[in-house]
Amino acid sequence: MSEPPTIADVRAAGDDALARLSAAPTLDELRSLGSELLGKRGALAGFKQRLGSLDPDARRTLGQAVNDAVAKAQAAHDRRHRELAADARRVQLEAERLDLTEVVISPRRGHAHLVTQAWERLEDVFVGMGFRVAEGPEVETDFHNFEALNMGVGHPARSEFDTLFVDFGPPGSTVLRTHTSPVQIRVMQSQPPPIYIVAPGRVFRRDTPDATHMPVFHQIEGLVVDRGITFADLAGTIQAFTEAFFGTGFSSRLRPSYFPFTEPSAEFDIQRPDGTWLELGGCGMVHPNVLRAGGIDPEEFTGFAFGFGIDRFGKEWAGIDDLREMFTNDIRFLEQF
Ligand code: DAH
Repeated sequence: MSEPPTIADVRAAGDDALARLSAAPTLDELRSLGSELLGKRGALAGFKQRLGSLDPDARRTLGQAVNDAVAKAQAAHDRRHRELAADARRVQLEAERLDLTEVVISPRRGHAHLVTQAWERLEDVFVGMGFRVAEGPEVETDFHNFEALNMGVGHPARSEFDTLFVDFGPPGSTVLRTHTSPVQIRVMQSQPPPIYIVAPGRVFRRDTPDATHMPVFHQIEGLVVDRGITFADLAGTIQAFTEAFFGTGFSSRLRPSYFPFTEPSAEFDIQRPDGTWLELGGCGMVHPNVLRAGGIDPEEFTGFAFGFGIDRFGKEWAGIDDLREMFTNDIRFLEQF
């Protein structure tokens, strides 16, 4: 019979088991080390079988030492098992991870067309001056487009407008509006004064496209009707608009002209800081017949109106030579503005 084990033997075996379990490199190796060291036929279990040959005192102390060693080795096993299991899980998660991120190449953003920019800027300036924005239809009645604007049948001014007619109703009764002025009539018919509106919109004429004409273009109309409105209010409004839109270096002038729907009538020009002039549009005091057609008593109210082309305005604003460039939709041209 071999020598009975000593406490030192037990501790040495316990330390050895603890060190090997703590250093197990994989779960598989930990599992085989576990049965080798902690199993029924393991080294520490071997000590237990040999306790029987000892006297009761020595059996108790040595048994205690074996239990201690087993408990520490078991704790080391469990700790290492948790570490290795956590590592394995991390590796698995990393391997099975789905990359849900998406590389977003920032989109090429466009911008509003030059005409839209000019249109919106004009609206902003007039709204800032207290005007409201009004709208009217692009397909108009002969009445709103001509008649109510003091251009009766056979009026010579009607031939100035190369009108596109729509095949609807009695011949000649329906037109693509040739200007935004019919919105004046629609607004007057729909509300009592005071009226302070601008009406931007698309208009149509039988023009052949050239550097300064397009058959489809845009205008902005202004209408003010109130008590005691004078020509000075018109001139002051045009000047205030010029400065608000272009800046303080610019000024405006009115030149006598003729429009059937205003009396007196004028054309207004804008002077650039270098002294040169830009013809912008027409204006005048609303003709009494036009007020009456809108259901307003010209003895009680007076008003002024103006109208000008947005496209030519944008053309000037952006320094473009040829209006047609704006509508051929060449991206290399359009993206410059
Ligand atoms: N409707 C005119 C045109 O298309 C422009 C115009 C002139 C509008 C004088 C007005 C105005 O309101 O008072 O040529």
